[in-house]
Amino acid sequence: MHGVEATVRAAIAERGPLPFSEVMDLALYDPDAGFYAAGGRAGRRGDFLTSPEVGPLFGAVMAGALDTWWRSVGEPERLTVVEAGAGPGTWARSILAAHPACAGALRYVLVERSAAQRALHDRSLAAVESRADLPEPGGGPCVVLANELLDNLPVDLAERTADGWADVRVDTAGDTLGEVRVPLAADEAARLDALAPEAEPGARIPVQMAAATWLRQALALAGPGGRVVAFDYAATTAELAARPVAEWLRTYRGHDRGGPPLEALGEQDITCEVAVDQLAQVRPPVRTSTQADWLVAHGIEALVDEGRRIWQERAHLGDLEAVKARSRVTEAEALLDPNGLGSFQVLEWEP
Ligand SMILES: C[S@@+](CC[C@H](N)C(=O)[O-])C[C@H]1O[C@@H](n2cnc3c(N)ncnc32)[C@H](O)[C@@H]1O
Repeated sequence: MHGVEATVRAAIAERGPLPFSEVMDLALYDPDAGFYAAGGRAGRRGDFLTSPEVGPLFGAVMAGALDTWWRSVGEPERLTVVEAGAGPGTWARSILAAHPACAGALRYVLVERSAAQRALHDRSLAAVESRADLPEPGGGPCVVLANELLDNLPVDLAERTADGWADVRVDTAGDTLGEVRVPLAADEAARLDALAPEAEPGARIPVQMAAATWLRQALALAGPGGRVVAFDYAATTAELAARPVAEWLRTYRGHDRGGPPLEALGEQDITCEVAVDQLAQVRPPVRTSTQADWLVAHGIEALVDEGRRIWQERAHLGDLEAVKARSRVTEAEALLDPNGLGSFQVLEWEP
């Protein structure tokens, strides 16, 4: 045996059953054998397709939103944008390629935990910095962006039992890894009862402490006048309690769904729908919209119309500009799809 499972087994032998979050953290981010260390990533050649990877349109809409926010605070000389969980940096490339009016003021910081993905960041772009963790707050208001970061942060799993709430921990079970339930302390059990009061015995929920901690840090970094904008698949804890775990705790590998989360540790992505009400306990968002509504509110339709016009003017040339313009139509369909990316939620905080 090797890789993440060997590390998990050694930790269990030393300390007893592990919280699920610790196993998920190792499976995704172990610097030697974790999924993201070993080349797992978003993109057409990657393991799953995200909105920035659909094409440049998502970045073009965000470029317009950044201009709106920059103007709303009086066009300051410096606008810091921190993109957290930036993956290979595709969103930043398309935002800058859309030439926003605020480009001259932009300091764009890509934050990516995986060294393999940081190596893909385009350091030739002026104004772009690349780092492993969030920068320290200071230096004025900042826009913190995150696309599909929160669903990739480690979660714990809690199960409603006949006697109350239990923490689902990972233990060895012969040749495989298994689960044990450890009763939760009364104060944590009361918190979970309030989040999912109707949960039946056997129901499970994610407990998203890492996402809550990230939000606290992001709010401090954004500062007064700044904002935090997160795009992700999301639901309430009570909604998740009413659904089978396999629906909201999913694995992906090479664009297909993977196996159970405790199998093939490090070889598949593990992702969990974001419990918006748990984030709201840190601070309620000022706005929540679907991705489709958000993109329409920030001008996607005008960009698609412009693409159609450019295509009509240049179709006879068949050059790159014409093809890029035409692709806006199909990109918009994917980004607005009510059964897909369009149904994601956009959570906005203004500290
Ligand atoms: C699902 S991918 C999304 C990548 C990109 N935002 C996109 O939409 O294509 C999540 C990324 O977040 C990174 N990540 C996870 N935890 C992180 C953290 N605490 N700080 C920075 N990056 C993190 C992962 O390594 C991974 O590249």
